Amino acid sequence: MNSLPSPSTDEQAISAELAGLIHREITAAGGSIPFSQFMERCLYAPGLGYYSAGCRKFGAAGDFVTAPEISPLFGRCLARSCGAVLVSLGGGDILEFGAGSGQLAIDLLGELAEMDCLPERYLVLERSAELKARQQQAISRHLPALLDRVSWIDHLPGAGFRGVMLANEVLDAMAVERFQWDAAANLFHVRSEGDGFAWQLETGQPNEVTAAIADCVGGLSAGYISEFNTSLQPWLQTVAEGIDQGLVLLIDYGYPHHEFFHPQRSSGTLMCHYRHHAHTDPLIWPGLQDITTHVNFTAIAEAAVAADLEVAGYTTQAYFLLDCGLEELLLQTGPTDTTDYMKAAQQVKTLILPGEMGERFKCIGLTRGIDCPVPGFRLNDQRERL
Ligand SMILES: C[S@@+](CC[C@H](N)C(=O)[O-])C[C@H]1O[C@@H](n2cnc3c(N)ncnc32)[C@H](O)[C@@H]1O
Repeated sequence: MNSLPSPSTDEQAISAELAGLIHREITAAGGSIPFSQFMERCLYAPGLGYYSAGCRKFGAAGDFVTAPEISPLFGRCLARSCGAVLVSLGGGDILEFGAGSGQLAIDLLGELAEMDCLPERYLVLERSAELKARQQQAISRHLPALLDRVSWIDHLPGAGFRGVMLANEVLDAMAVERFQWDAAANLFHVRSEGDGFAWQLETGQPNEVTAAIADCVGGLSAGYISEFNTSLQPWLQTVAEGIDQGLVLLIDYGYPHHEFFHPQRSSGTLMCHYRHHAHTDPLIWPGLQDITTHVNFTAIAEAAVAADLEVAGYTTQAYFLLDCGLEELLLQTGPTDTTDYMKAAQQVKTLILPGEMGERFKCIGLTRGIDCPVPGFRLNDQRERL
């Protein structure tokens, strides 16, 4: 990838150390490891993986931009939805998965404080120790008065959670299997090639994972390549076991099943991001680039129903934010203050225009024991597309 900017000497050293660790795992496994294991190490190897080491990641100076980094209005809209659920439950907690830089927590809590609707506790479940430290610093700097409500947890709380669990762009950061369909699912493994890595297709080796993929996709054209998230169903099962009453709100880029496995999407959805350059080779610069895939929202809905949650809504990010009052919040910025308003209006466009994040990103609401309509899903209901 000649077009990518060169990593610094320090970054190259971290990447080489991580590559060494992966090479040793490949040797120990007899010559190759499943892509899911490679991706897991690249993103989360303690102290070395993309999310675990110190690279900038989010924002203009990082590798990609997420909605909370684009505009505080994103978190303020989410607060409208979360607040309504907390009111209908007569209180409760919020649990955010994978809080990134901490920006969403700051905007959400700030708005909930304005609405006089704060959660009893704001729990953050974050896999990356480095991001956890960054979130703690950011929240103490921006919301010192609310810091005592926020705590970081390593595992989901046991049964009995009441409130809202939310995850923005977390499912796309889970390690997935990559497969090629040739009358059956064949998994891509990764092997060592010199100091680097190469693909290895494992043919004629059926196992539990290939059976689960066959079950899910039914049949695709020969040579079709895609991804399958084996962690999704157990993750959602654990989430569902923890929730007594409330909403699970998942926001991510993705498609319903028929679009995810569309005949024209025959190379899959795997993407890498390095300093705002998007490309499709996850085997280079381990640990320095984000590796991500789109989310299959039908798989989420099916896993949720199997775990006894209700699919209360499914819509695009644009409709979700508009239903939560995005336009009113934008007007509060004050159209007379031209510079601020223009800036906010531009950010809103990025969040809702179809060619930007508006249609690529979807929101799904999974509930248990809530009978009020959830703000965000009242304007437009796309559940029949799942
Ligand atoms: C693409 S970033 C999104 C960050 C943030 N939510 C945002 O919107 O800016 C993915 C985040 O998910 C976290 N993550 C990935 N898998 C996770 C899991 N199973 N539980 C909790 N956090 C996870 C990563 O460490 C990282 O913070």
